[in-house]
This record gives sequence, C-alpha cells and structure tokens, in this order.
Amino acid sequence: MDRLIVTGGGPLFGAIPIGGAKNSALKLMAASLLAPGRTVIDNVPRIVDCWTMAEVLEHLGAFVAWDEHTVTIDTGPVDSQDAPYELVSRMRASIIVLGPLLARFGRARVAMPGGCNIGSRKIDLHLRGLERMGISFRQEHGYLEARGSLHGAAVSLDFPSVGATENLVMAAVGARGTTVVDNAAREPEIVDLAAFLTAMGARISGAGTSRIVIEGVEGFQPVRHAVIPDRVEAGTFAIAAAAAGGDVVLSGARAEHLELPLSKLSDAGADVTEQGDGIRVRMQDRPGSVDFVTLPYPGFATDLQPQMMAMLASARGTGILAENVFESRFMFVQELQRMGADVMTEGHHAVIRGVERLSAAPVQALDIRAGAALVIAALTADGTTEIGDVHFIDRGYEGLEDKLSALGADVRRESARSPVVLT
Ligand code: EPZ
Repeated sequence: MDRLIVTGGGPLFGAIPIGGAKNSALKLMAASLLAPGRTVIDNVPRIVDCWTMAEVLEHLGAFVAWDEHTVTIDTGPVDSQDAPYELVSRMRASIIVLGPLLARFGRARVAMPGGCNIGSRKIDLHLRGLERMGISFRQEHGYLEARGSLHGAAVSLDFPSVGATENLVMAAVGARGTTVVDNAAREPEIVDLAAFLTAMGARISGAGTSRIVIEGVEGFQPVRHAVIPDRVEAGTFAIAAAAAGGDVVLSGARAEHLELPLSKLSDAGADVTEQGDGIRVRMQDRPGSVDFVTLPYPGFATDLQPQMMAMLASARGTGILAENVFESRFMFVQELQRMGADVMTEGHHAVIRGVERLSAAPVQALDIRAGAALVIAALTADGTTEIGDVHFIDRGYEGLEDKLSALGADVRRESARSPVVLT
C-alpha cells in the first residue's frame, strides 16, 4: 500500500486545475448504457473509481477507451446485465447501473453493495422507488435480481438521496408514462446528469429542485458531454489553503457550487474571491473556528466535513459541527486525535477545540475524504506525517500530492514495497 509523506509548516502558493466531478462522471458513464453507440465524455478524472466503473461497463460488454481525460464508451455490444460482487464491492456506486439497465433491458442482476467506513449506505429508497415503477426484486446469494416493465409513477423520497434520485431518473427516462420524483436530491451532479440525459433525448424538468418530472421516451442517442468541475476537490483545496495559509487559485472551480463552504472559510478569516474561471483563497494567519452542520445540497456538503474538522483542529477557538447525512462519518477522528487534535464526539455532534499546532504522527486514511482531511492536518502539523492506505485517496483525487507540491507543499508518495521475505 502506498503512503503519503507530508511535512507540515509552509503556506500554499500558486494555481492548480480542478478536475471533473467524480460524483457526476461515474453516473454519466453508467447512463451511457441507455444509448447504444459511442458516447464521449470529456473532463473525466483519472481516478480509481472511474477506472472501476469502466471495468463494470466492460464486464457488461461495452468497449471503453481512454484518451487523457476523455472516455469513449460504446455500449452497442452490451449483452450482459450482471454487475458482479468483485466489482461492486470495490465501488458501491456501481449500483447506479441498475436504473439504466432496467430502462434498456428490463432486467438487471447487481451484487448488493456493502456499507463502508462512513455508514450503512442503504439502498431501500432506490428499491422502493423502482418497485413503484413496476420492478420486482429478488435477493439471492448477495445479489439483487431485478426485472419488470418500467411505467411512470409518483415517487416521494423519505430522504433526498443522491443515488436514489439518479437511479430513479435513469429508469424513468425510458419508462412508459410520466414519473414525478418528490424530495429529490438537488446536487449539481443531478443537474449535470439531467443535462446529459436530455442531450440523449430524454424529457426531464426540475433537475436541481426537489421535484423532478420525467416523461418517458423510447430510443436515446449517444452524445458528447463534458463533466462539471469537482466541487469536493475544489472545496478540499480551498480548506487546505485556509488551514495552511497562503494564496491559492483553483482554476475551473465554480463558486456557485460551494456557497456555504466558502462562506464558512470567509468566516474563518480567509479572503475568498472569484477570479477568472476559478476561485482564489487567501489566508494570512491562523483560521478562526466556525460552526456548521452538514445537510443535503445546498446545505454544507458532508464530503467536506472531515476536511473542515482538520482545519478546525488547529484553529483559534472552538468549533461545533453536526454530521446529519452519514451516521458514522467520525471514524477518522481517532486518527486526528493521534496528531494531538482535541475533538469530542457525541452522536452526530463533534466539538473541536483548536490547539496551537498539531503534531505529526503515523495515521491511516479510512475513506476518500478522511484521507484528504489527514493530508490537510499534516500540512499544518509540526513534523513529518506518514499517511497509510492512500488507495482510498486515489479513489477520489487525481494526483493530490502533485497538485499540493505545485502549491509548494512538502509532500511525496512512497510506494510501500511488499516486505522482503528472506527464505
Ligand atoms: C453520494 O453518495 C456521493 N457518492 C457521496 O460521496 C456523498 O457523500 C453523498 O452522495 C451525499 O452527498 C457518489 O455520488 C458516488 P445518498 P450516495 O444516497 O448516493 C441514506 C464521496 O466521498 N440512504 O445521498 O450513496 C444513506 O444511508 C462520497 O465522494 C438511505 O437511507 O448518498 C446516507 O445516510 C461519499 N437509503 C444518506 O441517505 C437509500 O436508499 C445519503 O445517502 C439511500 C440513501
């Protein structure tokens, strides 16, 4: 397993490009199943999760070709509807092929996605919504057998689940009749998916609001589409700049996708401005503490909570946060405490008393965003921190250490050699 070696202390200066959004690209790749032929997606991040999604599509029979950040997917040859455990267990977001497979073939067999380090990650809202649209499910040997003829329905989500909204929309575009999804997720990635599907010939209104109306149509055309910028990658670097200090420009980032996080960084003392096609974050001194709660978009993004906690760990004062989206997204607090953070958690709440300076210690990344948070903590810590299990970070960030190095950070990757076995 690779490790990142980070020596803290210096501020960050310079400009870096923000890549395409992981949490949109994965869904657009799955949506290409709806349109037999060659779909071309630009600005796809070269990260492990996107390579896994490509493997899922190839397993189904599609041809996938990469050229830098452009992926060409030919789903004409797709002849299987099975997403195997070996792939789904690597990336639970593979469940997103369910909707498009049902819309095109009327059947799917997908391994049940497990939970992960941040929560149980249930899919009951996906299944209940699809059942209302005429799909019946059978669970057997850890697999979900789905079949049926999709028809329009009125579906109201108990929780504005991103994945459930996406699966239901991708099923509804090919259903007979009209589907209304109420209490739908409003994330920018939903809007990007709806734009992609509309270009393919789908009839969708209300994407980005809590009520999405989809009029089913037959036959979709493959398209060319560029993925929106990754607001979580941009937010991660913005928080890193506020924590470590300096002057950073995030090229290609969209401030309108990060309103709350950027306003919290301003409250912490950062000077956040839109500059050209990106965002500029300047911070002269140690950040002040802030309070925030995570909520579905446009609330504060749960995917930026660990990174904010890392900043608060060495901020002036005490910050209080509530994690309202995932039930166990505090798993990484113990790692932060190993670096001297003064954090107390109780249920969904965490109280972070800022310390003068964190101290370097060997730590492990437990999920994508926790890994990024530990890198931010290491940038502010006294000494050199070794972060293990970097494969989590590689699932969601393209060249994190290269971009930080370009900003002047002292960070390098060490490929852990497998232990030499002396026979
Ligand atoms: C997406 O996950 C993102 N992943 C997550 O990003 C992100 O944190 C999350 O949305 C919330 O914004 C991708 O897009 C690949 P949800 P998703 O369905 O769709 C509960 C990252 O680091 N729920 O909105 O799985 C669920 O348990 C990842 O990039 C049900 O109870 O999120 C969770 O508590 C982490 N039943 C909450 O809703 C369901 O059927 C939010 O889940 C579905 C969800």
